[in-house]
Amino acid sequence: MTTPTLRPSDIFNNEDSNTSSNPTFDDVLNSRLSRRNVLRGGASAAAATVLGGVGLAGCATSSTTSMALPGEKLLAFKAVPKSLADVVSVPAGYKAEVIYALGDPILGNAAPFKNDGTDADFELRAGDHHDGMEWFGLSDNGQPSRSAINRGLLAINHEATTDEKLTSFFIHANGGKASLPRPASEVDKEMAIHGVSVVEVRKNGNKWDYLRDSPFNRRLTPMSDIEISGPARGNRLMVTKYSPTGTKTRGTLNNCGTGLTPWGTFLTGEENFVGYFHRTAGDDARRGNDKSVASLRRYGRAQGAASRHGWETAGSDDKYMRWNNSQTGTSADGSDDYRNELNGQGYVVEMDPYDKTKLAKKRTALGRYAHESAVFSKAVAGQPLAVYMGDDARNEYIYKYVSNARWDPADAEPANRMAAGDKYLDNGKLYAAKFNSDGTGQWVELSIDNPAIKNFAGYRFADQADVCVNARLAADAVGATKMDRPEWTGVNPKNGEVYFTLTNNTNRTTDPKNASQLLPDAANPRAYTDSRSGQSQGGNPNGHVLRLKEAGSMASATAMTWDIYVFGAKTGTSTASINLSNLTDDQDLSSPDGLWFSPYTGICWIQTDDKAYNDKTNCMMLAALPGQVGDGKAVTLNYPTANGNLAVQTQVGKSPTADTLKRFLVGPAGCEITGACETPDGKALFVNIQHPGEDTPMAAVNDVSKYQSQWPANAGYGPGKRPRSATIVITKLDGGRIGT
Ligand code: FEO
Ligand code: CA
Ligand code: CA
Repeated sequence: MTTPTLRPSDIFNNEDSNTSSNPTFDDVLNSRLSRRNVLRGGASAAAATVLGGVGLAGCATSSTTSMALPGEKLLAFKAVPKSLADVVSVPAGYKAEVIYALGDPILGNAAPFKNDGTDADFELRAGDHHDGMEWFGLSDNGQPSRSAINRGLLAINHEATTDEKLTSFFIHANGGKASLPRPASEVDKEMAIHGVSVVEVRKNGNKWDYLRDSPFNRRLTPMSDIEISGPARGNRLMVTKYSPTGTKTRGTLNNCGTGLTPWGTFLTGEENFVGYFHRTAGDDARRGNDKSVASLRRYGRAQGAASRHGWETAGSDDKYMRWNNSQTGTSADGSDDYRNELNGQGYVVEMDPYDKTKLAKKRTALGRYAHESAVFSKAVAGQPLAVYMGDDARNEYIYKYVSNARWDPADAEPANRMAAGDKYLDNGKLYAAKFNSDGTGQWVELSIDNPAIKNFAGYRFADQADVCVNARLAADAVGATKMDRPEWTGVNPKNGEVYFTLTNNTNRTTDPKNASQLLPDAANPRAYTDSRSGQSQGGNPNGHVLRLKEAGSMASATAMTWDIYVFGAKTGTSTASINLSNLTDDQDLSSPDGLWFSPYTGICWIQTDDKAYNDKTNCMMLAALPGQVGDGKAVTLNYPTANGNLAVQTQVGKSPTADTLKRFLVGPAGCEITGACETPDGKALFVNIQHPGEDTPMAAVNDVSKYQSQWPANAGYGPGKRPRSATIVITKLDGGRIGT
């Protein structure tokens, strides 16, 4: 199979015929800062620079100005009701079609997918649990194109698998072996359904399809060769038997949120990587109780920890042994075992979706933690770039990375895209966020030169690489704010404000005697009892969305203001203490997770991964037109406690209205909705349906009548009845833009 060759002059050309004939956002609104204009360089970039130089704060009306085209009304569709049906529901006037599901062949001689548990060769097929996703346009002649609307690549994360008791039961004929040791044949399949797909999609007439034999199609799996890049490259913490020089690792794992760089590459966030590794009992002593033990404990691998799938038990081959994170060798540096293997996962990974010859790189400067999306500040010529990120675990932190390099619009079309990544993502400053009750906040730098880090009693940092690899410990050292599970981030193209979904948190309490949980605070102000089918759920079961505005609208600012854009809640709950955003039946949601601003319509798409409201509705996607930080008011929540009243002041954004927040989609049974990207005309929206039917018991693997979901087979896609994660494309019957 040949790899397409690209000439620098071909990159992001806008002159091919595969482009929009309709006016795009920046064609119509050329006075606004448009991402496309920044990326194109030249005169448009200069115009953008002028706006950026004024500072986004200077665009007094920008945050309230609609990004609708003339004659178009955003959010004009009728809201989709909550639903428990095993279908994808979208508004009248729209259609949703499946285009790429678990097991679909994309490489080599993979046979058609049978969907009966006998399929193999998953490294040649779509992986499982489709998650974050980005669009990369292709011109008619197969060159990268920012403006292509009928042909492109989807880079798609395959986060995990639907499992029970170790085994990914839907991909094994009889559910697989749910005890140790695991068979190598099953483990090989399970490893290969993780990672990333790059797959070409095309529009033929009004129908989108993926291309079985595109030369661009590619898979990354946990077995792929990947470079370590940035401060930790070559560091002693990265030494393994696989890479005694500490410059490489194998594979990418538990890929959840995504990002799109201003130079046109794909970022994938490694989230729940820790649980895939096993540590044997007694490993602390074998390590001499050195500081690696403190690191492993902080990241959730106490000695004796069992792994999620038991992959380390499948045989003596190195590809299985590497999942044993224990010290088994006799070397001083770890070059004869996988004691350091956990340090090779948990990063933002960059790959060039257009070029299969380039190895992906782990960008260690952005820190190691349970990554979700990685979203850039608006690219402004001459200014550093910021990347906003969350660490999705209970009571973990929000981070940003600021590049040392200043943005050069010429880098929007680099001759070597991965080299542009080296320039902007390998050298910079890492910060963690602190939120104050008065609506202000700070970014605290995680630097080895910070005395709080250098002298931290909980862990002795050796160098900046150590700070990046153990970013959670560094954020502990500076007292950053512990959050209610930060998931995705998004940057509002209208005003540059940054949004963070905080999906939920069971570890938040109003009981001051409960030492294992945190009290509510300004940025995580709710702790209450919610009922799901008669079962009580504590903490912050429904989550919220926080947003911040950088001081001076500068990506490199260390001061900010913030508020909470929306609180997840069920209608009928108290509007004084729970449903603080006054959500109605057309808007109520629980556990916001995916969040993505369309750069074309400005619509903020919010997606849910919910276990609190799913007795009443399947997970959903909503369309929002948010205002700006400070458009609401300070609110004090009062909690009676054994020690008297606990008063928590927070900042509540202006409540959404029927015109500014609406449910757009409800997914099939047992699914999560995640990942969103669009063609640049805004007329095709790609969304992922993750793990439909995930609550099916393994014992029912061959009993179709007991499947929680039979999607997408029941939508007419593919053989068999076993549920499959899949990518859908949403289009409007009248050919209009999505969300209008
Ligand atoms: Fe993979 Fe935090 O969701
Ligand atoms: Ca997620
Ligand atoms: Ca989630």
